[in-house]
Amino acid sequence: MRIIIVNDYAEMSQRAARIVASHVILKPNSSIGLATGSTPLGMYNALIDLYNQEYIDFSKVTTFNLDEYYGLGSANPQSYHYYMYNNFFKHINIGMANVNIPYGMCKSIEDECNRYEEKIEEVGGIDLQVLGIGRNGHIGFNEPDIKFEAKTHMVNLDEDTINANSRFFKSIEEVPRKAISMGIKTIMRARKILLLAVGKDKAKVIYQMLYGKITPELPASILQLHPDVTMIFDKEAASLLE
Ligand code: F6R
Repeated sequence: MRIIIVNDYAEMSQRAARIVASHVILKPNSSIGLATGSTPLGMYNALIDLYNQEYIDFSKVTTFNLDEYYGLGSANPQSYHYYMYNNFFKHINIGMANVNIPYGMCKSIEDECNRYEEKIEEVGGIDLQVLGIGRNGHIGFNEPDIKFEAKTHMVNLDEDTINANSRFFKSIEEVPRKAISMGIKTIMRARKILLLAVGKDKAKVIYQMLYGKITPELPASILQLHPDVTMIFDKEAASLLE
């Protein structure tokens, strides 16, 4: 595991973007797993800059997002489809046919989850998976007490996640209670993992993830067992580490 501690959010975003960019440059048809939330926004901006400077070509890249709220369509501004399109995809030359995000309005959850897993298999697996981390230790929407062996599946969102994500909605009542998420098994199969975290409110979970027991109570603790993980933290998120 490689841990990089940087001064601030801007530096984390630049470092993360360079890692993603190097994958795309070395393997133009890379499959990249993507996250939403506040943390990777700066990385997306930095990648857009690199694209505008003609360092990277996304035309052969395939992406797989970690998750989507159940019941939100792609036109809904709170959906992760909408977030990804507006914050990243519309600014680069990715083919929208190569973009994969679980479909929150699917008729059959089981079919949608199977389809998603098959699609990942079809491209030969995920080369690099970008992750954020929830204050409760979730990665994707794999909430505490999830089964480590789960693949893409429907999840019930934890109270802490609903509270944390309510900042994106008009009221907490509007936050969906369910989501479709890649499972821990899907995430752990990625050849490389890049986890990003910033801010004081992540410090405790970062410490627990790295030094605590490997337990479904803290889903991100499983990353201790992945053979190729890079983590980038700002000073505040890393403040409890030695
Ligand atoms: C997002 C996701 C979540 C977030 C996590 C941190 O697709 O899967 O696990 O990465 O909730 O969110 P932020 O970055 O908003 O603190």
